[in-house]
Amino acid sequence: MSSYDVIIIGSGPGGYVCAIRCAQLGLKTAVVEGRETLGGTCLNIGCIPSKALLHASHMLHEAEHNFAAMGLKGKSPSVDWKQMLAYKDDVIAQNTKGIEFLFKKNKITWLKGWGSIPEAGKVRVGDDTHEAKTIIIATGSTPSALPGIEIDEKTVVTSEGALELAKIPKKLVVIGAGVIGLELGSVYARLGAEVQVIEYLDHITPGMDAEVSKTFQRILSKQGLAFTLGAAVQSVDTAKSGAKVTYKLRKDDSTHIVEADTVLVATGRKPYVDGLGLEALGVKMTDRGQIATDSHYATNIKGIYAIGDAIVGPMLAHKAEDEGMAVAEVVAGKHGHVNYGVIPGVIYTHPEVASVGATEESVKKDGRAYKVGKFSFMGNGRAKANFSGDGFVKILADKETDRILGAHIIGPMAGDLIHEVCVAMEFGASAQDLALTCHAHPTYSEAVREAALACGDGAIHA
Ligand code: NAI
Repeated sequence: MSSYDVIIIGSGPGGYVCAIRCAQLGLKTAVVEGRETLGGTCLNIGCIPSKALLHASHMLHEAEHNFAAMGLKGKSPSVDWKQMLAYKDDVIAQNTKGIEFLFKKNKITWLKGWGSIPEAGKVRVGDDTHEAKTIIIATGSTPSALPGIEIDEKTVVTSEGALELAKIPKKLVVIGAGVIGLELGSVYARLGAEVQVIEYLDHITPGMDAEVSKTFQRILSKQGLAFTLGAAVQSVDTAKSGAKVTYKLRKDDSTHIVEADTVLVATGRKPYVDGLGLEALGVKMTDRGQIATDSHYATNIKGIYAIGDAIVGPMLAHKAEDEGMAVAEVVAGKHGHVNYGVIPGVIYTHPEVASVGATEESVKKDGRAYKVGKFSFMGNGRAKANFSGDGFVKILADKETDRILGAHIIGPMAGDLIHEVCVAMEFGASAQDLALTCHAHPTYSEAVREAALACGDGAIHA
């Protein structure tokens, strides 16, 4: 039996970042991971591989749609799907090996296998039991499929199977117009599939600022994605080849059937806590199946903490990473902290969509006096040069104090642009603070400054 200061269960962005911070703070640290490679869902079957496919398919889109206009003539590239998957796998390997290197560098022990907690202070991995003063659960999440719908990861797939399809489908039905459905739907639409997205709500991307959501739907429709909104999927029946999806339109209860080669079920994720032994330990759970923690990530059992997708809050890799760092500080006797008011959300389609803080709908609901500064990428020289004029930056600020309340960007590199607003919000900045900051020309960032200017006396290039 070996003993550690901290054993972390799970090596995703929450777990591995937590381990590195624990080691940096002088704690003897081990991580339990049963997968063959480190990095969890994000690096192996989530964020990173999907970004590789988004990048490759975007390059194809550029070649097909914009090269000729720039004077780049010749045959458009054809898709070698096997090679595209190999490129994606290589990107995964580079990233997961990188985490292994960081573990070695920081003297973190990888306990290979699936972990469980027989009692506080002990972690079992295979036949071995290890001791730990502190146990941190960072086991992430898993797709929450619809009841009665059988996933075979070949014809009816979750995000995992969608990254490994045997061939590009002719027709893909996506159930759920959330982040996963739209990112992967975009990939296959660009690769030539006919993509139909079926969504229960009357709008796409629940929780997103409504103006951005509408613009996003319009842009994606222009790219060839078809949307069936207000439709509740009832069942998916697989046949020899392909599947039949039955849905009911909520407005009139009418039943419809659509056929597809592949069906992607992207209806959300749920915490993954199977096999940990939490019930026997008496760990308190929320009514949504998440591990209940206090503001220091402590569960009701002394010495057991939890972070990331397994607890309450947005299921985002960077939220888990920040919690990983914060809980490490707490365990080391310092003061870990996460500002939940400033967690950006990004959808990596093209254009990207990014947001932070309050939406216009939430500010209205709170009865807060606010102002809006908006700027279209059509007025941004760099965006026009790069065929990226679609979209805008929208900044919400308090009407009295001018303090930034939130920002929503749909446009080129939105996922990177959002961070200057995040930093500004961390410092409690006003829209004027952003507007008075010199921004290099010509950059997409100027659109953020222009939106900040629009909260005051007006944008210059509008
Ligand atoms: P989601 O919660 O974002 O969207 C699921 C959608 O499915 C919702 O719009 C919902 O109304 C719809 N839906 C549910 N039941 C339905 C039914 N029977 N018929 C039709 N529509 C139905 O979930 P998603 O996209 O699966 O993502 C899961 C989690 O992973 C999210 O928390 C997301 O934030 C995270 N994620 C984040 C990424 C990023 O940050 N870029 C990338 C991928 C995932």
